[in-house]
Amino acid sequence: MRATAIAQPNIALIKYWGKRDLQRNLPAVGSISITLRDLSTTMSVEFDDPLPADSLTINDIDAQQMLPRISACIDRVIGQTRPRARINSRCNFPVAAGLASSASAFAAATLAAAAAAGKSFEQAELANLAGRASGSAARSLLGGFVELENRENDISVETICAADDWPLTVVVAITESGPKAVGSTEAMEISRKTSPFYSAWVERQAHDLGVARQAVLQRDFEQLAAIAEHNCLKMHSIMWASRPPVVYWNSATMRCLQAVRKLQREGTAVFFTIDAGPQLKAVCLPGEAERVSATLGAIEGVSEVMMSALGGAARVLDAS
Ligand code: PMV
Repeated sequence: MRATAIAQPNIALIKYWGKRDLQRNLPAVGSISITLRDLSTTMSVEFDDPLPADSLTINDIDAQQMLPRISACIDRVIGQTRPRARINSRCNFPVAAGLASSASAFAAATLAAAAAAGKSFEQAELANLAGRASGSAARSLLGGFVELENRENDISVETICAADDWPLTVVVAITESGPKAVGSTEAMEISRKTSPFYSAWVERQAHDLGVARQAVLQRDFEQLAAIAEHNCLKMHSIMWASRPPVVYWNSATMRCLQAVRKLQREGTAVFFTIDAGPQLKAVCLPGEAERVSATLGAIEGVSEVMMSALGGAARVLDAS
């Protein structure tokens, strides 16, 4: 009745932004991401009959706010009439700051809850269970380059290129470590309801996915860089044009973006992407990682730089 699972966050190169079904948390668009190797969430779930309620700690600190979403995720995995659970999570990077901590958390919670209850699921079922909790979590179940397909009634995930088959490095520049001002669900709904660019975004996503998929399959860094930066800036343009506007960037985010552009002009194989937060993620060829990291680390307002290779799938570490 106890299991521990580990999952790594993922960074979307072709973004998920917007929901077509809020109730079932179904995305309006497909997406392509890379799973990181060196950042991780390790979650243990222990069912214990006498417990009056679920409890959750994150890095040994009581985390009441996040508990309802984790409890609901476990309910979906094994049913509401379950014994209460003691949930302990360890995360080696800042939580809720646009670093996809919810993706690794819900992927790990889904796997750990299923293993603790002795239930086994097909991968498609796991993807939909994790995706109900957080759209990007389904992608963290798999390693390498992962495509999330938006099907008629559900989602599916697939690794389109393994981490070892195209080893890229991701350098994350932390420009603010607190939680983000507006959660992604709320921001997506503001975008959907008010942004004049939202429908164009949804219509054009199949094109961007096709270009990125082809770039990954052909290991074409330049093509991937161009489409990923375009898709990222398009997503943020939707938010900027929403009412109220949603602006996640700060001045250090912009300085990092300009530094990546300068590196590119100097011939460095690197591109940027930015999610629902102020951190900039630079994706580069492994040989460029030290240079990219030193450049971003020296920028005013960057408090920390983290580096990660691409990683493997989420997995159960132990179950008893
Ligand atoms: O899965 P959520 O609800 O945290 O939303 C993720 C949204 C982005 O990170 C901005 C894009 C993405 O595809 O991960």
